[in-house]
Amino acid sequence: MNILDAIRQRRSIHSFKEEAVDSQVLEEIFTYASYAPTHYMKEPWNIKLFQGYGKEMLVESILGSYQRTGMIPNDRNPKTLKMIRSMKDFLLTIPHHAVIYLEIQQDPIRNEEEYSSVCAFIQNAQLAAWEYGVGMLWTITPYMHDTTFMKDIRLDSEKVKIVAVMQIGYPKKVPRDKGRTSIKDKLEIIE
Ligand SMILES: Cc1cc2nc3c(=O)[nH]c(=O)nc-3n(C[C@H](O)[C@H](O)[C@H](O)COP(=O)(O)O)c2cc1C
Repeated sequence: MNILDAIRQRRSIHSFKEEAVDSQVLEEIFTYASYAPTHYMKEPWNIKLFQGYGKEMLVESILGSYQRTGMIPNDRNPKTLKMIRSMKDFLLTIPHHAVIYLEIQQDPIRNEEEYSSVCAFIQNAQLAAWEYGVGMLWTITPYMHDTTFMKDIRLDSEKVKIVAVMQIGYPKKVPRDKGRTSIKDKLEIIE
């Protein structure tokens, strides 16, 4: 696929087939992603990939965070238990979850550079995945800021920051292209 077609045709995927993506394919996707621009060649991206039984740990940690932060009630009410069960089932049907994180830099400019580079890495991953027929959803959710959640998944919140949690798998359904605002509305040329 031509790069311009990939840029325009890639969609965020919200529903995935159950089939797992081969580890070799995922490695190749992340290898392409790692050609993202990186100041001082810091390559600041790190990935924790949860799949198979590993997803149980992640999903338990996510649901624990939702309960601690009040996104779902912290009780044993049958309604709550039903809600937890359906959220758990939904999250477990997603074949892979990739937690993308970086080491926090004390210098705010370095920190911004490295955060930006990780975002470029993520978009490269999404585009490379598209070429392999693999879909992704870039998510940012409140649990990423929950220090207990981070501890649960063995990340030190004093040292690292989660940039995104990517949901990954073969698309069950590809959403329609919502289009984009004409760039003319965003572009100011000064000459
Ligand atoms: C930083 C970032 C965070 C996002 N977080 C979410 C999210 O939490 N949940 C979600 O459904 N989509 C999320 N998205 C995906 C956007 O909703 C999606 O890119 C947008 O609807 C445009 O659709 P497209 O990617 O198919 O062109 C996120 C995208 C970005 C760049």
